[in-house]
Amino acid sequence: MSNYVKIFDTTLRDGEQSPGASMNKEEKLRLARKLAKLGVDIIEAGFPAASPGDFEAVRLIAGDLRGGPVVCGLSRTRPADIERCWQAVREAEKPRIHVFLATSDIHLQYKLQMTRQQVLDEIRSGVGHARGLCEDVQWSAEDASRSDPDFLCQCVRVALEAGATTINIPDTVGYALPHEFYERISYIRANVPEVARATLSVHCHDDLGHAVANSIAGVRAGARQVEGCINGIGERAGNAALEEVIMTLATRQKELGLITGVNKAEIHSTSRLVTMISGLPVQPNKAIVGANAFAHESGIHVDGVLKQPLTYEIMTPEEVGLASNTVVLGKHSGRAALRNWLSGNGYELDRQQCESLFEAFKRLADKKKEIENDDLEALIADEILRI
Ligand code: KIV
Ligand code: ZN
Repeated sequence: MSNYVKIFDTTLRDGEQSPGASMNKEEKLRLARKLAKLGVDIIEAGFPAASPGDFEAVRLIAGDLRGGPVVCGLSRTRPADIERCWQAVREAEKPRIHVFLATSDIHLQYKLQMTRQQVLDEIRSGVGHARGLCEDVQWSAEDASRSDPDFLCQCVRVALEAGATTINIPDTVGYALPHEFYERISYIRANVPEVARATLSVHCHDDLGHAVANSIAGVRAGARQVEGCINGIGERAGNAALEEVIMTLATRQKELGLITGVNKAEIHSTSRLVTMISGLPVQPNKAIVGANAFAHESGIHVDGVLKQPLTYEIMTPEEVGLASNTVVLGKHSGRAALRNWLSGNGYELDRQQCESLFEAFKRLADKKKEIENDDLEALIADEILRI
């Protein structure tokens, strides 16, 4: 089996389903170009049947991106949706139709009001229809992680027979635990061996905070496409944060043996663009792209990082496109951080001066959350230069 994991970005579709995050077509195009530069393999540009605006955005992106990722549109199994999706993606260099239908009994009973046989028939006709239009067809089993495993396998078999080239297994409501999700993917591979001729994909939501862990469990079990959104945005608690998936695969490459085609140095600026366009801020302690992800304050940590960054950094800030890490000055800082600031700002103080500045700094730090450059300049003027 290949060790290449395809990255399927759905920031423009599932990400846009975050409450309050809708984007206009110009914003979507700008983001799609950036995602292409990031080097994702597939961009899900929208759900063409959902609105005329979404149709237009998908069509615009499909016609614009050249020499880059697959451009994909989402579709229900209804013939009119599939036709609309095809009209939106057909101008893409590499178009994909993504058809989905729920497979869990909860969804069948309450939402779809369909029998299992009707679901199987609908998958066959929907995927078959899409395949008649497009070479590249993905089928997703919505709510797969809460579906009866044997019925799910039956659905996968039918989707493959109808021509699906990618089979996506979503944890739609973020219910699965990593070991369960691993078992689910393994079960499908063991019971539907013909799935090997398609790409097996995972799509995990974050309702219990396991979206990235479940995605990694999925690829460990043999999935070779991971779906998610930049900054982990998406419906409800969001989707798997792609930057976390990508950096997990990169940072633990030796152990996992998997690679992606992503240009990691574009991660930080892509995250910033998603924040700007979606209007959804990133929490400071967010992995990889949060403001504190490469910031150090405590004395022991700063001392270690200044001697050798590997002591407290498992990846370099440069790797994800940041100029450097940051040393934050506050009440937890030690002398090493202060000395580092002094030398970085052109001060040469003797030992005694350093010591009295450090004491004044600590007194101030007890009253203030973060010490800024201006605070230190003022302390030096007061305590050392006595101006
Ligand atoms: O979460 C989900 O199940 C989805 C499907 C449409 C793939 O977003
Ligand atoms: Zn989803």
